Amino acid sequence: MVSLPLIREGMRMHSRDRVFSGVRSITGGFYMVKKIAVLPGDGIGPEIMEQALRVLEKVDQKFSPGIETEEAMIGGAAIDDEGKALPESTIELCRNSDSILLGAVGGPKWEVLPPDEQPERAALLPMRKIFALYANFRPAMVFKALAGASPLKERVLGGGFDILFIRELTGGIYFGQPEGREGSGAEENGFDTMRYSRREVERIARIAFEAAMKRDKKLVSVDKANVLSCSVLWREVVNGMAARYPEVELSHLYVDAAAMKIVTDPRSFDVVLTGNMFGDILSDEASVLTGSLGMLPSASLADGAFGLYEPIHGSAPDIAGLGIANPTAQILSLAMMFRYSFGMVEAADAVERAIQETIEAGIRTGDIMGDGCVEVSTAGFGDEVLKRL
Ligand code: IPM
Ligand code: MN
Repeated sequence: MVSLPLIREGMRMHSRDRVFSGVRSITGGFYMVKKIAVLPGDGIGPEIMEQALRVLEKVDQKFSPGIETEEAMIGGAAIDDEGKALPESTIELCRNSDSILLGAVGGPKWEVLPPDEQPERAALLPMRKIFALYANFRPAMVFKALAGASPLKERVLGGGFDILFIRELTGGIYFGQPEGREGSGAEENGFDTMRYSRREVERIARIAFEAAMKRDKKLVSVDKANVLSCSVLWREVVNGMAARYPEVELSHLYVDAAAMKIVTDPRSFDVVLTGNMFGDILSDEASVLTGSLGMLPSASLADGAFGLYEPIHGSAPDIAGLGIANPTAQILSLAMMFRYSFGMVEAADAVERAIQETIEAGIRTGDIMGDGCVEVSTAGFGDEVLKRL
């Protein structure tokens, strides 16, 4: 079985520093209610979210964790309805929730807007910053039954790979100041700043070392220390932390070399630590090698147990509304939420197993069809997962 438990042993990064809102049941017993802010977004977001919510309902019956959900708008849908991609009411709902389940945002309809009003920049980036979601977990692993769909040769892919990208998500060139444009004509400049503080590198490096300890104890830190001052500091800080984790085999790669090695020897990686932009690029590269962009979930975590969970794929406007989208990444994102934010390891395992069994049974959405498999709709796939849960 592919090591679907994304962090083996179901680790939790931090103990929760804020208790879940507790309520008294009718019998006077005390149980915990967990609240999820549900943000379906645009394109295929609402369709795949629907299937994840069916899974959630089944988990609620089976494991009775007492989970509440409340929906709000984000992205293009929110622009159309309320005039901005991230309305105050959505932020407020997220503030009052224990975690966030997001679908996808964006689409051609909103690409005509000024860049800083578009869903990606006006909703996703502020969400990350507002909720201090600095640790982005992007597992990229090959489902054995789908190995044939990988663009890699069998000789490279072997038994498949299982890489956990840990990408810093609230700093680096995405947020560094100053940024903007100045001057005019041929001398007009556009500029961004790549900047990391020691503190920012330390906190993400610690997460990566801890994750490596729970897995194969191999950590590759990615930078461009042969050119960038920012990367020289990055490497220094990561090296400084290594003494505290003597069991972890630490190495460094320049980002260009890392990009190459991911396609030539993906099995050599376990945990990969990156800054914001390098992680954006390398995680897309790795995800497509799994043969199935529609399969991979992600978690963006703050200190404590608060997190935002979303598929790594986008809103796929070309197939929106057709009922053919693959809901796997959304459902697996929910499983990650159970594991990381709620400590519901059993429920997370059960959901991941149900997905794996469905795929192994040859039940597939169009994007992952194979010979002798049965093609099902988005909802049909949801039905089959529920049956196995
Ligand atoms: C991602 C996306 C975002 C990013 C975009 C949509 C802002 O590509 O989550 O990887 O670059 O971080
Ligand atoms: Mn990206």
